Amino acid sequence: MKFFGRMEARNNELYIGGVSVERLRQEFGTPLYVIDEGDFKEKAGVFMDNFRSDQFATRVIYASKAFTNLYMAGLLAELGLYMDVVSGGELYTALKGGMAPEKIYYHGNNKLFQELEFALAEKVGTIVVDNEYEYQWLSELAGRERVRLSVLLRVNPGIEAETHKYIQTAKDDSKFGMSIFNQKTQDLIEEMSKDKYVDFRGIHCHIGSQVFDETFFFASARAMIQFAYEMESKLNVDIREINLGGGFGVYYTEKDQPFELADFLKKYIQIIEEKLHALNFELETISIEPGRSLINNSGSTLYTIGHIKETITGRQYIFVDGGMADNPRPALYQAEYEAGIGNKINSEPVQEYTVAGKLCETGDILIENIKLPVASPGDILIIPSTGAYTYSMSSNYNKIGRPAVVFVEEGECRLAVKRESYADLIRNDVVRR
Ligand SMILES: Cc1ncc(COP(=O)(O)O)c(C=O)c1O
Repeated sequence: MKFFGRMEARNNELYIGGVSVERLRQEFGTPLYVIDEGDFKEKAGVFMDNFRSDQFATRVIYASKAFTNLYMAGLLAELGLYMDVVSGGELYTALKGGMAPEKIYYHGNNKLFQELEFALAEKVGTIVVDNEYEYQWLSELAGRERVRLSVLLRVNPGIEAETHKYIQTAKDDSKFGMSIFNQKTQDLIEEMSKDKYVDFRGIHCHIGSQVFDETFFFASARAMIQFAYEMESKLNVDIREINLGGGFGVYYTEKDQPFELADFLKKYIQIIEEKLHALNFELETISIEPGRSLINNSGSTLYTIGHIKETITGRQYIFVDGGMADNPRPALYQAEYEAGIGNKINSEPVQEYTVAGKLCETGDILIENIKLPVASPGDILIIPSTGAYTYSMSSNYNKIGRPAVVFVEEGECRLAVKRESYADLIRNDVVRR
């Protein structure tokens, strides 16, 4: 198992942010999401220090869908990041957690009318319009409230990034945004730029998630700048911002080879500057929206090992006290992970196991065929690199409460989300009378 951030081994036990896995289990129970806060802050610093230019302002917008809660929103606000949200619920969380409304970008291909009303009432900084129907609603709302709304339009630059098809988002027939090759897109840009209640600031794209080939990002940046330039020249609109989305790939297993972030970000800026220079074109702001690449490797999940079962075929199952309810990614898109036994972290991995959850689905397998030290019931299994799209995609399937979330830093533990109790599981249920 690869160590990340502030993980270290002391006397054959794993410590994260100076806290042992045994202490975490004793204080908070398992399953448990653990976030290495020092590591997260360092990552945020890498983004903010390297995605910078003298020629335009830059914004690092954290994609909250990867992982969010009140604590996280407060931390992001403190660190000076922006935040993107895709629902009324994420918006509510961001605001309640202390994120300034003007630093929020609101995305989504089917924002509800009530959600748009809520965003307007809260004076959200930027609405990223997905399509012409949403624009009609926004225009109506902004006119009714007599406010000037700041918007970007989500477009598809036609870059088909190589990744799982469920996380490819900018194909011509994608459900998100509008193709730059579609005349309707140009017509909408023209219409929005003439609307007295809409301040059309620019365009946004997101080519997909878990993308390892940096040339896709460079190609998409060039295509977006070219398109913005052509729109300005042709339609006499003033484009001031381009938001290039997120999607930077991260390490889960040895199969993943992410690019070095600081170098990539510097090169990204350089490519953007070169393209702007070649066109003699200026922009006020360029933004990016990392989610996974900011949070994933700072997060781990701890489980307690229950029974260890050998099948007639010789497969050795390790059963853990969580599963697809706290991490649906393996069942959803065959995501792969590494793992370790936290209380035997330096012991030789000699035995092949399959790690299975406790939920009533055959597909509830967290890891197939992984070599670990000989496991015993009561050991602590750690799956690292589970910061993104685990807690945020978790469910109460089989009426299992969601685990707690704890941030650790320099030997201190800070509870961010309490474990759901049985009472929490039925808090919205109504008894039949
Ligand atoms: C609009 C938008 N921005 C940013 C992201 C974040 O992507 P990632 O977590 O891969 O960086 C997503 C993810 O799907 C997205 O849809």
